[in-house]
Amino acid sequence: MIEMSDSVFPVPSDLASRAHVDNAKYLEMYKRSVDDPDGFWGEHGKRVDWMKPYTKVKNTSYDHHNVSIKWFEDGTLNVSANCVDRHLETRGDQPAIIWEGDDPSEHKVITYKQLHHEVNVFANVLHAQGVKKGDRVTIYLPMIPEAAYAMLACARIGAIHSIVFGGFSPDSLAQRIDSCQSNCVITADEGLRGGRKVPLKANVDKATEKAPVNSVIVVKRTGGEITMKDGRDVWYHEEADRVSDHCQPVEMNAEDPLFILYTSGSTGQPKGVVHTTGGYLVYASMTHQYVFDYQEGDIYWCTADVGWVTGHSYIVYGPLANGATTLMFEGVPTYPGPDRFWEVCDKHNVTIFYTAPTAIRALMGAGDDHVKKHSLKSLRLLGSVGEPINPEAWTWYYNVVGQGRCPIVDTWWQTETGGILITPLPGATDLKPGSATRPFFGVQPAIVDAEGKVLDGATEGNLVMLDSWPGQMRTVYGDHERFVQTYFSTYKGMYFTGDGCRRDTDGYYWITGRVDDVINVSGHRMGTAEVESALVSHPKVSEAAVVGYPHDIKGQGIYAYVTLMDGEEPTDALKKELVTHVRAEIGPIASPDLIQFAPGLPKTRSGKIMRRILRKIAEDSFDSLGDTSTLADPAVVDDLIDNRQNRA
Ligand code: WTA
Repeated sequence: MIEMSDSVFPVPSDLASRAHVDNAKYLEMYKRSVDDPDGFWGEHGKRVDWMKPYTKVKNTSYDHHNVSIKWFEDGTLNVSANCVDRHLETRGDQPAIIWEGDDPSEHKVITYKQLHHEVNVFANVLHAQGVKKGDRVTIYLPMIPEAAYAMLACARIGAIHSIVFGGFSPDSLAQRIDSCQSNCVITADEGLRGGRKVPLKANVDKATEKAPVNSVIVVKRTGGEITMKDGRDVWYHEEADRVSDHCQPVEMNAEDPLFILYTSGSTGQPKGVVHTTGGYLVYASMTHQYVFDYQEGDIYWCTADVGWVTGHSYIVYGPLANGATTLMFEGVPTYPGPDRFWEVCDKHNVTIFYTAPTAIRALMGAGDDHVKKHSLKSLRLLGSVGEPINPEAWTWYYNVVGQGRCPIVDTWWQTETGGILITPLPGATDLKPGSATRPFFGVQPAIVDAEGKVLDGATEGNLVMLDSWPGQMRTVYGDHERFVQTYFSTYKGMYFTGDGCRRDTDGYYWITGRVDDVINVSGHRMGTAEVESALVSHPKVSEAAVVGYPHDIKGQGIYAYVTLMDGEEPTDALKKELVTHVRAEIGPIASPDLIQFAPGLPKTRSGKIMRRILRKIAEDSFDSLGDTSTLADPAVVDDLIDNRQNRA
């Protein structure tokens, strides 16, 4: 549970005058953005280059009988032309991407001119593999520049990319390939993270046994041994030699899909979140400029992976649309040592640094000396994303990393929102540690009670959005009904975020975490239902219930209650086996942190598992279990508590 800290960090006065907006300007722009969305976005939509200008701006309905979201619907544009071509004249020799390898001895600088060349070549390779406008391309790459080239190449020819994080298992990859009927996979021989190799191509080979594809394009990263399947697999560098470096960007409608990104929800398999071309790009680039107060000459580093939405919007599309220099890091924060982030900041003179609370907490635990041995003088702004940041980690980030000089933007948003919705603006917003503060332009948050009644003033409840913004997801790929059900049916006429939230007397928002069956492990979203279904697919498991519990570093850990088949022995060896099983089914990011064998689970008389109780037990809050009298067998609870206490 997030504490509401009382400290306030006012905007430094020199920053207020230098930044894109100060508080008065924020208030004025915010008011206009909600009073006159057509006028506001009609103007700001021009920040990107259109092939055919739009004449319509906002056309959205949250009515649950007819949810429909369209922005700039009659305009046409190309995202890769916006992120690459349009910068050639003004900044062709400026670095577009600074790539820092897993091994500190490796780095590369890619200028906008070079990026243009690479994206054109990659686009032609895709064409040569038969990829056409509207086709889905699955990208399963490590954090190498080719990941950005591949994304922009898809955008150039109008193909829809679906990136699958390299930490997902072959089964998870297969399911995502199958779900969007993708016929082409782009991968690498192996990935490299923290000095360890990740068998990406081998994983693709396993995945495609279940979900066959026509073509696999393999980028050579490590040179490790892999097998190539004749007639299906090609080496990227060989194909690249055969094609021209000119590929005309295709004219896309603003509402044509740009990408699909799978994300976990409370029920069922991950959903394919669909983002489209025009609104997404306008929103990603505008938020990148204002939230990070991006200025010419900044070196901007977002430490996310392109496999997550943060990497899409704030490593690739937002920064490149703005002609920024974006740093892309292949490795992990703790390799070769726990000062890697700070070493990279000094090496490349990073001015804006954007990371996740889980990394901040882990590095805080490693001790201040690792930070203090680096200068960090280039830093001027820090950011946080992915989960609530506890005031202690905030304060450490501010004082030790930022040396008391750099504002922190705690940015709240979701895969579904496409870009940042609630956040400070550095020149406008006084900061409170732990609060994401105020809405971005055009964003209308509200807090509702369980019945959907909008609550006023300082309050606590569920976070909803009352109206649309251009970066909002448009649908669930292939299942519009699921989109409506998931986001617009809990509270009619509103977009439900799945998050709980408080608002204080200054109107600041404090996100308290998910209120649904999604847990947030090290900033990665995990559906408890997915982990449960992985567990019950093990032959010795009869039933499983998974909940989150507070974890010092990860924010939340995965706590699994497992009931075994009759006659199976509850041993430590079996716990290990189950962890291995879940890693194989979903991927290492879903490894249960704690497994408790449970002879029975608390169920209502109708057979529904009461997770509220399981959550309380996992949190060690045995005194606040609430009413257990409606359980089919209340004695189960005592058993679970006894076991939990012995476990430690
Ligand atoms: C959580 C990541 C508190 C939240 C961009 C949300 C946050 C989920 C913050 C989305 C923040 C993200 N403060 N909680 N600043 N940012 N969250 O889709 O629960 O991977 O619903 O998008 O992360 O996770 P997703």
